[in-house]
Amino acid sequence: MWLGADHPVDAANLDERATAVWSGRELAVVVPTLNERANIPVLIERLHDVLDGTDWEVVFVDDDSRDDTAELVRAIAQRDPRVRCVQRIGRRGLSSACIEGILATSAPIVAVMDADLQHDETLLPRMFAAVRDDDIDIAVASRYVPGGSSDLGTGRARISGLATRLSRLIVKADIADPMSGFFMLRRPAFDEAVRRMSGQGFKILLDLFASAPRPLRFREFAFRFRQRQFGESKLDSMVAWEYLMLIADKLVGHIVPVRFVLFALIGTFGVLVNLIVLRLSLGAGMRFAAAEIVATLAAMVSNFLLNNRLTYRDRRLKGWRLARGMVTFCIGCSIGAVANVGIAAQVFGGGRSWWLAGLAGAAIGAVWNYAIASTYTWGRAR
Ligand code: GDD
Ligand code: MN
Repeated sequence: MWLGADHPVDAANLDERATAVWSGRELAVVVPTLNERANIPVLIERLHDVLDGTDWEVVFVDDDSRDDTAELVRAIAQRDPRVRCVQRIGRRGLSSACIEGILATSAPIVAVMDADLQHDETLLPRMFAAVRDDDIDIAVASRYVPGGSSDLGTGRARISGLATRLSRLIVKADIADPMSGFFMLRRPAFDEAVRRMSGQGFKILLDLFASAPRPLRFREFAFRFRQRQFGESKLDSMVAWEYLMLIADKLVGHIVPVRFVLFALIGTFGVLVNLIVLRLSLGAGMRFAAAEIVATLAAMVSNFLLNNRLTYRDRRLKGWRLARGMVTFCIGCSIGAVANVGIAAQVFGGGRSWWLAGLAGAAIGAVWNYAIASTYTWGRAR
């Protein structure tokens, strides 16, 4: 191992020092957490029980939980070297948390499982043996193979079934439970896929299968999805939305970013808002210029709020950041409007038809607004 001219380190010496104390991790368990304090000690205890005899570590990836989950993990890690914490601030998302957890460990085999004890940890040794010794890339703990089960209510079960069918659009593998959040894989299989992964939403396994450059060799392991005991589920109504975004991204994302499509759709909707408010303001007796200003502002604000809710849901602004974001968005869009008019006038002046000039202006305006929104309003690391 040669570390380059800037680091004239005698690597053999380094290796010798390291291996004198340690032969390396065999397995890492990556656990995303959001307000899971009560579950953490129980889970660690159980991992010790089932993984005894393996050199494992657990990496908790916490999105700045309000219940101090990260502090608790670090306190335990002070006494238990198998425990680690990655804390993310100002970001949210189950999939991206898992991806960063996998990137934060050097283990050649990595499992992903939930913190809330709904996933059956007693499966881990069998999954580990299979991934290490057999010719597979990934072991998937499955609710929907014989012997597996979940007591989702009928409503959620139906939605889950529908989502599974939808997933066939992007995943060709005949996997019974592509929605599972419990699996274990070899590092190379992850490394090959990670740069293509969308990392959005909840469905990291689906994302992984859809992003792998070659079909993944998998085996499914039946398990009973347990009831949650402490804390509450983070699945809300927007999860369905995030799921559709993931499918859309995998279907057309290589042609045009799904975010841009959404942004443009919301912008189009904004034109409608503009017209309606203009009509109402005129009806209320306002002068045209004033009414148009009110209508334009209304459209910008509604565009901003919709984008905050939908397009940039994973970077949602709240509190005073929401106010600041709204101001930068409106300023950005105003400049976009000036550019729009300027370009359109130029194209029209060049002898083209009015609609081509209008379209060119709108396209430039949309791209400009999107660039500002992505890099500035919702783009800054916070
Ligand atoms: N870091 C981080 N960030 N962790 C999160 C986030 C987030 O934004 N949202 C949820 N988590 C963590 C939770 O703390 C928990 O450990 C795990 O992710 C799963 O979240 P739950 O809220 O318990 O989800 P669920 O039980 O409804 O969904 C599970 O089952 C589904 C199958 O029905 C998950 O495993 C899904 O991936 C799975 O598809
Ligand atoms: Mn859960």
